[in-house]
Amino acid sequence: MRANIITYGCQMNEYDSHTIKSELVAGGHDMVDHPSDANLIILNTCAVRGKPVEKVITQLGELRKERRQGRDLTIALMGCLAQLEEGQVIAKKFGVDILIGPGAITDVLDAVNEIEAGKKQYTSLEFKSHLETHITPAPNSLTGYLTIMRGCNHHCTYCIVPDTRGPEVSRPVDVIMQEAEAMKAAGIQEIYLLGQNVNSYGLEQNKLPSFAQILKMVASTGIPRVKFTTSHPMNFSSDVIDVIAETENIANFIHLPVQSGSNKILKRMAREYTREEYLKIIREIREKVEDVVISTDIIAGFPGETEADFDETLSLYEEVKYEHAYMFIYSARPGTPSYKHFEDMPRKTKTDRLGKLIERQKHWSLESNRRYEGRNVRVLIKEIGQSGEYVMGYSDQNHTVLVPAEQITKLGLYTVKINTATPHTLYGTVEGFKTETIPLLMA
Ligand code: SAH
Ligand code: SF4
Ligand code: F3S
Repeated sequence: MRANIITYGCQMNEYDSHTIKSELVAGGHDMVDHPSDANLIILNTCAVRGKPVEKVITQLGELRKERRQGRDLTIALMGCLAQLEEGQVIAKKFGVDILIGPGAITDVLDAVNEIEAGKKQYTSLEFKSHLETHITPAPNSLTGYLTIMRGCNHHCTYCIVPDTRGPEVSRPVDVIMQEAEAMKAAGIQEIYLLGQNVNSYGLEQNKLPSFAQILKMVASTGIPRVKFTTSHPMNFSSDVIDVIAETENIANFIHLPVQSGSNKILKRMAREYTREEYLKIIREIREKVEDVVISTDIIAGFPGETEADFDETLSLYEEVKYEHAYMFIYSARPGTPSYKHFEDMPRKTKTDRLGKLIERQKHWSLESNRRYEGRNVRVLIKEIGQSGEYVMGYSDQNHTVLVPAEQITKLGLYTVKINTATPHTLYGTVEGFKTETIPLLMA
């Protein structure tokens, strides 16, 4: 078939989409760049908030319309939404042919073959253990995602992810290293180790190394830049901080979601740490890791959050001075404990609070970005756009960096001198090209 995959949600879904593509290509199917050229469209979905679910519904509505107008099309709903009853109801409503959850993505080939052979509907929602050892070939990109563990053992009361992705399972070390080595051989310049809580790596099994050890092992491949996401403050131990501080090619960038600055709300969210414990980790990171960039996730307007609780989140901002933050309003997700037991607050209160957070974040991001003016940073340019004055790249600490398009002729790592900073972007000029081995890749 001619397949196109549309990916929503987090980087774990990006990794899964790459696995899905690899399976289809290995099975003799073609991937096409545009959905309009496909006769198989796969939606790899996200269900973490209402918004990504709405996007999927809109997309399915479009596809159903085209199909009614006579387009020959097989539709697959995969990813987190597919795993939920909510997704199954949606799939039925829109006449989805293939329904596969995140624990069964490698069934995609079977599914497509069976549909081609005349089967009406294919469903697979198990969490299959062979996914842990399944090797996905390196992508044709300068950034490689590498899932080191699947699932989540926490029970944050607002979160649907434990339902969509099941319990934590760490992948074996040799499998992780095999994928990392293949990425290195393919010329990948930046590797992202992925998991819902990467620092819980190995905790559910005996004999596995710690996350700090895995980080060190992957860095020892010599890939120029190693990043990871997401860390949970609960198991974020000093050994991880030490490895980051000591190892040159591990990026000085830590995404450590706090969600709220109020102990009362953290307890209601079942986050398993206090504000004070969180701040202690932040202090240790700032002391040990030079030039570190710390980012966070915050939820504004969690049920029961009073103005005083929200002020505690604001005051935490002032204390941590995050370089970057992903900020959301609380979204009541059917199936989560907070949906069942707590009452949502008016949307206006939530968006007002979000607005205040965004404003403060802008201030701290600008403050931090300004420190880079006049300095050299290392920037990975992994895509060259068709037009435009600037080309975008990412610094070691994940800053978005724009450089004049005429200075970029090939993809890779550059030394860039930063001239000006805005809250979201650093503007610079190229001082030199750094990449030694570059795959035959152009955007
Ligand atoms: N495992 C990661 C987060 C995964 S979900 C962690 O624990 O940090 C990514 C982010 O989405 C979360 O950090 C949280 O800020 C946000 N999120 C999750 N559920 C949400 C909900 N119901 N409403 C609003 N934001 C939510
Ligand atoms: Fe969701 Fe909490 Fe697990 Fe993160 S740690 S995926 S927020 S349940
Ligand atoms: Fe969304 Fe699933 Fe990731 S719900 S955020 S795609 S784990």
